[in-house]
Amino acid sequence: MPSWGHLPEDERWGLVHYIKSLAAKPWTVPPAVVPPGEGQSGQGVIHVPPAPPFTAEARKLALERYADACASCHGPTGKGDGGEDQKDDSGYPTRPRDLTVGVFKGSPDPAHLYRRIVAGIPGTPMPMSDWAWGAEAWHLVNLIRSWSSDSQRERAEMREFRLVARRVERVPEHPDAGAWRVTPPVNLHLMPLWWRSDRPEELTVRALHDGRQIALLLTWSDGTHDHTAMRPQDFRDAVAVQFALTPDPPFFAMGSRARHVNIWMWKSERQADLEPAFQDLEKVYPNLGIDSYPNSTVSAVEQPTRQALTLGSDPVFVTGWGAGNIVSDPLRKSPTEDLVAQGFGTLRARPRADQAVDGRGVYATGTYRVMLRRDLAGPGVQAVTLTPGTTVPVGFAVWNGSAGDRDGKKSVTIWQDLVLEP
Ligand code: HEC
Repeated sequence: MPSWGHLPEDERWGLVHYIKSLAAKPWTVPPAVVPPGEGQSGQGVIHVPPAPPFTAEARKLALERYADACASCHGPTGKGDGGEDQKDDSGYPTRPRDLTVGVFKGSPDPAHLYRRIVAGIPGTPMPMSDWAWGAEAWHLVNLIRSWSSDSQRERAEMREFRLVARRVERVPEHPDAGAWRVTPPVNLHLMPLWWRSDRPEELTVRALHDGRQIALLLTWSDGTHDHTAMRPQDFRDAVAVQFALTPDPPFFAMGSRARHVNIWMWKSERQADLEPAFQDLEKVYPNLGIDSYPNSTVSAVEQPTRQALTLGSDPVFVTGWGAGNIVSDPLRKSPTEDLVAQGFGTLRARPRADQAVDGRGVYATGTYRVMLRRDLAGPGVQAVTLTPGTTVPVGFAVWNGSAGDRDGKKSVTIWQDLVLEP
């Protein structure tokens, strides 16, 4: 669920009323009743009393209560690894998420947590409390909040940032160019579209332009360098930036039918293919058997690489290449693809002649640094054209291959503002 915090307040209230109108019957709230004693339930709107101080003694009390009433599901340290088998109301297995990573389905705001602990979460195993009202519920709120930091909780919130592409004499040619060191970074918040606790949390973006070209430097942490897609079980790391072609952007997930988006994507295995020691099938499959093809002029036995298998052939017999598919092109020079999308499932490459995005990615000490560069004026009608002095909506996506990310399984930002200095 992305954040819609950037919409005007009256639009957000409009959405609240619309969503409530979807309920089959009108929602009525019974008069507020505080549970009269332990073992009895309350009802109605929960009154949140003022928070008592979270003293060492309060913490001790909270830890005892937690061990007693919460740990069987939430785990002894709140990591969501309790022993109790849990199912939601439809009978599907479910688990509470890791409370130490600072991500809450509702808000991490103390009063909101208070209400959730007191009322439970209908439809899920999270029970309504029949005792933890008042001071004790507050101690539990404070205990749970003490397991994550403000900065963790802040990163979990999807926000719109302003990325300023400063104007320089000449844009850099490499991710390690000195110019990047003096370019101010902006840390964008990412969220995985398939939830998991181990996820890339931030993407750092720097942008420069020189009136002719724009360059973006994208930096993020990833513990593994997944740069091959040779085996069916391998998925590679990647990053992409999506541009809206109008100031009022379309649906942020791949655009919409009438309003397409232009996407520049960098893939780690395409980068590896371009390095001098390109990927060797024989290393992955030492006992590989290779057919010889009558149309091939190069002996694949000596050099069983993608280049050897295709370059010595007539493109007519290498059908993807022959059909103009940029993925099969053995002569490609860039590890990036220039793509276009008009909603889910419509992603496609722009014509080979219009592939104008240059890229270079480096992986070292657990960090990717990927630079994307293109002329401000885009070739062809579906390419974004960037004009100094204007603002363009941009979105970003990161794939972590070792976590099984591919296609729509990725971590994304919401729309951001890219401002090009005049
Ligand atoms: C029977 C299992 C169970 C018990 C007992 C339980 N919880 Fe939960 N709790 C869950 C589940 C499952 C969820 C996740 C519900 C969802 O969002 O799908 C959850 C969610 C929560 C959340 C909300 C997190 C968010 O994302 O906003 C908080 C806070 C919480 N529990 C605190 C507690 C506390 C404190 C106790 C003890 C007083 C407790 N829980 C007892 C199963 C349990």
